[in-house]
Amino acid sequence: MMNTIDTTNSLEKDKSVNPQQTQFTSSEQPAQQNTAFVAQFETSAHTKKLQHGDVKISTQDVHVYYGETEAIKGIDLDIYQNEVIAFIGPSGCGKSTFLRTLNRMNDTIDICRVTGKVTLDQQDIYDPNLDVVLLRAQVGMVFQKPNPFPKSIFENVAYGPKLHGLARNKYDLEEIVENSLRKAGLWDEVKDRLTQPGTGLSGGQQQRLCIARTIAVSPEVILMDEPCSALDPIATAKIEELISELSEQYTIAIVTHSMQQAARVSDRTAYFHLGDLIEVNSTEKVFTQPDHQLTEAYITGRFG
Ligand SMILES: Nc1ncnc2c1ncn2[C@@H]1O[C@H](COP(=O)(O)OP(=O)(O)OP(=O)(O)O)[C@@H](O)[C@H]1O
Ligand SMILES: [Mg+2]
Repeated sequence: MMNTIDTTNSLEKDKSVNPQQTQFTSSEQPAQQNTAFVAQFETSAHTKKLQHGDVKISTQDVHVYYGETEAIKGIDLDIYQNEVIAFIGPSGCGKSTFLRTLNRMNDTIDICRVTGKVTLDQQDIYDPNLDVVLLRAQVGMVFQKPNPFPKSIFENVAYGPKLHGLARNKYDLEEIVENSLRKAGLWDEVKDRLTQPGTGLSGGQQQRLCIARTIAVSPEVILMDEPCSALDPIATAKIEELISELSEQYTIAIVTHSMQQAARVSDRTAYFHLGDLIEVNSTEKVFTQPDHQLTEAYITGRFG
């Protein structure tokens, strides 16, 4: 966890002009200017995976329509195994819509239509014969607002493994639940209250419970749509730490309005604008030398 920038996750703050950010996007600044914001990249563990591994998810010419309105306008993107990729961009630019195409969550919206191709391990996920329930276990999703089921903490995590028949017996199930809660960094806080309602936990704990629930069905990819926006800075820091740990094992795509958060947790950042993917590059590059003027305007607070 980097301490060079604070954990405030406020839209207002991100979109105001941050003097540190303008510094390193201005052509008048020496390239080696070492602001605190830039310095984090040099010490950050996140630079670990910039040699790209296998492509985990690939989208080709993906368009999404709500009725007649085109919300995503032909996006090609490869997401690599075990990377954390952040999706950023102004409100309404299509980040959530695009994220939802990656596990067919848009299917649940009546007026929504998706064209183009999305593959997971080179398999077309829009194949009509595909089991969507299984797909959503493989490509799990964590939402902005923690949404535990109205069930006990144990049952929240046990639900998916039961549904998918992942446990042979009660002991198997208990082990899956414990391991998932441990990976989500919640076990110690809840181990003595597993039978109590999940909704009785704090917001940050509920979000970690939702992450445990996602992990419990052994996903390969985890999609997160602003997972910290309802959380305080301490809970946010915990989730961010967790994202870094989880990326050892999973591929993660995260939508965030916090550029500090994108910088802290992601290997690559994709900038969206009015339904287009404007650029995708290493997070360091996007925040220091973006290729596109629109990206620069956004990260320096001139647009958004
Ligand atoms: N269920 C829906 N029905 C109709 N239009 C929708 C629906 N969901 C999203 N849209 C429209 O699609 C566009 C993209 O919305 P989306 O929610 O993907 O943006 P976003 O980048 O996630 O925004 P935010 O940062 O505010 O969450 C917007 O114009 C939005 O109004
Ligand atoms: Mg959104």
